[in-house]
Amino acid sequence: MKSILFLVGSLRAESLNARLARVAAAKLPDAIRDADGVFWTTPEYNYALPGIVKNAIDWTTRPMLPRHPIVGKPMNAAVATISPANGIRSLSDLKRIWANCGGVPVTTFDFVLQQAPGKFVEENGVETIEPTALGILRFAIDSLVRAIEGDAGALVVSNWAAAFGAK
Ligand code: FNR
Repeated sequence: MKSILFLVGSLRAESLNARLARVAAAKLPDAIRDADGVFWTTPEYNYALPGIVKNAIDWTTRPMLPRHPIVGKPMNAAVATISPANGIRSLSDLKRIWANCGGVPVTTFDFVLQQAPGKFVEENGVETIEPTALGILRFAIDSLVRAIEGDAGALVVSNWAAAFGAK
């Protein structure tokens, strides 16, 4: 059975990005259970990707050959931040690094939940986020599902095999 793996780039107990990941997982369409990809939620630290996220990627890509797990893997991401102005650099870093490692970042509207503490709302006793932001989050997830269903990673996998030999 295929699945989407949610990865959170913060270890804080009260992490906004962990809360956002829970909102995203709760809003998944049923199709999602047959999917195979990664959805990251991560903070931005000092205008860049957090070290633990980079470290996780570094470990995942070793051993690099014959083929590490990121090759051909569709991914989308969101950033939750307390800032009213920042966060986009972390998202850009993550997608650039993922692509350079042979992963397949899905291009959608960039989703940064700025001033995040004020954007969480409760709906029927369940935590979610305000409607405009939720719409963009849903689009990001739906686009990831379409990338998985369309086997968006196939070309990268075959290029990798041509360069380094089949797995
Ligand atoms: C931050 N924060 C932050 N936010 C941002 O949007 N851009 C930034 O460059 C930074 N830089 C930064 C550096 C350091 C050392 C800390 C501790 C924090 C604030 C950040 O958005 C906030 O702490 C979030 O709550 C972190 O995410 P989690 O842990 O709540 O998921």
